[in-house]
Amino acid sequence: MASHGIEIRGLYKIFGPRGQDHVAQVRGGMSKTELNERHGHVLGLRDINIAMPAGQITVVMGLSGSGKSTLIRHINRLIEPTAGEVIYDGADICRMNARDLREFRRHKTAMVFQKFALLPHRTVMENTLYGLDVQGVPRSQSRKSAQHWIERVGLAGFENHYPNQLSGGMQQRVGLARALANDADILLMDEAYSALDPLIRVDMQTVLLDIQSELKKTVVFITHDLDEALRLGDKIVILRDGQVIQQGTGQEIVLSPADDYIASFVKEVNRSRVIQARTVMKPAVGTLEGVKVSADETLESVAQRLTRAERSSAIVVDEDGIEIGILDLNTILAAMVNPVGHHATPAGPR
Ligand SMILES: Nc1ncnc2c1ncn2[C@@H]1O[C@H](COP(=O)(O)OP(=O)(O)OP(=O)(O)O)[C@@H](O)[C@H]1O
Ligand SMILES: [Mg+2]
Repeated sequence: MASHGIEIRGLYKIFGPRGQDHVAQVRGGMSKTELNERHGHVLGLRDINIAMPAGQITVVMGLSGSGKSTLIRHINRLIEPTAGEVIYDGADICRMNARDLREFRRHKTAMVFQKFALLPHRTVMENTLYGLDVQGVPRSQSRKSAQHWIERVGLAGFENHYPNQLSGGMQQRVGLARALANDADILLMDEAYSALDPLIRVDMQTVLLDIQSELKKTVVFITHDLDEALRLGDKIVILRDGQVIQQGTGQEIVLSPADDYIASFVKEVNRSRVIQARTVMKPAVGTLEGVKVSADETLESVAQRLTRAERSSAIVVDEDGIEIGILDLNTILAAMVNPVGHHATPAGPR
């Protein structure tokens, strides 16, 4: 199934009875506080422009109230925009008629919720079948597909259990199986893992990454956890007060935070898990030998491999196996302890 990206353009959401009337003021720079105090309207989103690439995970991050849920709900139009467009496969979701919207929601999108939203009186199998029932797929077909996804998320043997017989992590696996059974191109996950214990949460991240490496869906994943964002996000978008304040790869955000606010929360990050070999490698000269690592490997991974091989430097190769640089342990250490600086630009395209 060919995947499509999602393109959000000039999106505004102003909550209140006359949102439209205030777009011009907000465009002109009126703040969220002023809009609320003077007009009793709430600024949900201001001029959001994001390209969410096909087949990738876009993470939306921000503190409570920053507009994350408002943003993701525009993608299946659970919320009507005040201005702007959400383009998918050439169509503006915000302008679809009722029938097209219903089709789009049913066949192109699936949601995974924080509270799992499982039906308590239905078994794991029946919960997984739910979306397919709604689509009118006959049970003779849908059972096979549901069984496949139940197994794929690691719940084989639990088909006939009820949600209250399962741990939180297992319930979330059911939520994921149900979403995947829909065969939708877009997966919307609003704080899907936020209620889980830390270790279970990491397990669920692994399940998602594993499935994603095979399915390549267009995933929109909301979190307020930076480690989760860095682990999952091909692209990370940071929202504050309804505005995008930075978007880029995890590495770009960690190496060049757009402002002091972002700098303050990326400070604690384990940089070796984010910075890639190509960013800090030195040019390759002469004949090289030793451990080969790929350009997009993290410094942590390179360091582990060097340690295991009892070597102190690695040869960095690109996707075609061409040697493009060398990376030694000293360079890795330096990159981990020295902030590269707010405005350092990672080398090379990614
Ligand atoms: N239906 C609504 N009516 C009025 N204001 C709303 C409505 N929904 C959201 N808001 C406001 O819009 C802003 C963004 O809310 P939103 O729920 O999108 O934030 P969030 O980033 O998802 O927060 P959280 O992390 O708590 O889930 C907040 O100021 C919120 O109070
Ligand atoms: Mg929310």
